[in-house]
Amino acid sequence: MTHTSVLLQESIDGLAITVGDVFLDCTINGGGHSEEVAKRFGQAVQIIGIDMDESALQRAEKRLLVQKAKFLLAQDNFRNADKVLEKFGIQQANKILYDLGLSSNQFEDSGRGFSFQKDEPLLMTFKEKPTESDLTVKEILNNWDEENIADVIYGYGGETFSRRIAKGIVEARAVKPIETTGELVEIIKNATPAPYHRRKIHFATKTFQALRITANDEIRALKEGLEKGYSILAPKGRMAVISFHSIEDRIVKQFFKSKEKAEEAILITKKPIVPSREEVVKNPRSRSSKLRILEKR
Ligand SMILES: C[S@@+](CC[C@H](N)C(=O)[O-])C[C@H]1O[C@@H](n2cnc3c(N)ncnc32)[C@H](O)[C@@H]1O
Repeated sequence: MTHTSVLLQESIDGLAITVGDVFLDCTINGGGHSEEVAKRFGQAVQIIGIDMDESALQRAEKRLLVQKAKFLLAQDNFRNADKVLEKFGIQQANKILYDLGLSSNQFEDSGRGFSFQKDEPLLMTFKEKPTESDLTVKEILNNWDEENIADVIYGYGGETFSRRIAKGIVEARAVKPIETTGELVEIIKNATPAPYHRRKIHFATKTFQALRITANDEIRALKEGLEKGYSILAPKGRMAVISFHSIEDRIVKQFFKSKEKAEEAILITKKPIVPSREEVVKNPRSRSSKLRILEKR
């Protein structure tokens, strides 16, 4: 499944990219946004793409080669954006984009357990091949204590039945380790009341979101990533962030406000840009997206 880029024109227009810029795509995935930059500017803009997902980077490479773009790619976490630039011998970026969360390819085809509609191993890592030291959802479910599990399901998922679900997880793992998404869905189902299963939003949505955020340490990565990005942003440079849920958006909003308050930067978007009705109809995944843009003084 191909990923449809969200707020594509709005984000690239809003970054006001010009000839000679270094464009840092902190979440390049298959390269949708970077391809648009390459189409508009060809070799006149240096593209640098970061992603944790190795196979996504391969897709981005293919796409950017077709465009004959000038690009460099790094498999890394964007919380290390400064080191990535250093490695490439580049001092600053003029325009930086973060398009947060996961792509449709990862959700549908990665086999890493992002979707509750499939029966897959419970990894949910952005990295394609997590190592021993990488946290996976399987590890959280089978080793964390009940209270911590409940806290993340509530804190990052806003799940009302977080305590009951955490209790169900601990009871299930006492019988046998929890290995697959199918097993987790069953546990959530048994822990929540029947009317909850008939709601418009699937009863496993919030728990899955919370566990994915936790496994990838997404909140801390975002906070650190924004700081790092800002530290390598050139004067008059812009950074744009597309977020997909309120926790992310709040962090971006507060970070941007703090820079504005310190008179270091100007808010280009006083209110976030949201997708048009047409975009939401064409790509329902864009529904909850918000774009905020900041310019360094
Ligand atoms: C929504 S997709 C980006 C889609 C891309 N802009 C496009 O239009 O094709 C988000 C990507 O960000 C990556 N990602 C999420 N958090 C990251 C982090 N902290 N560091 C690096 N990559 C990250 C994910 O692996 C995923 O590939």
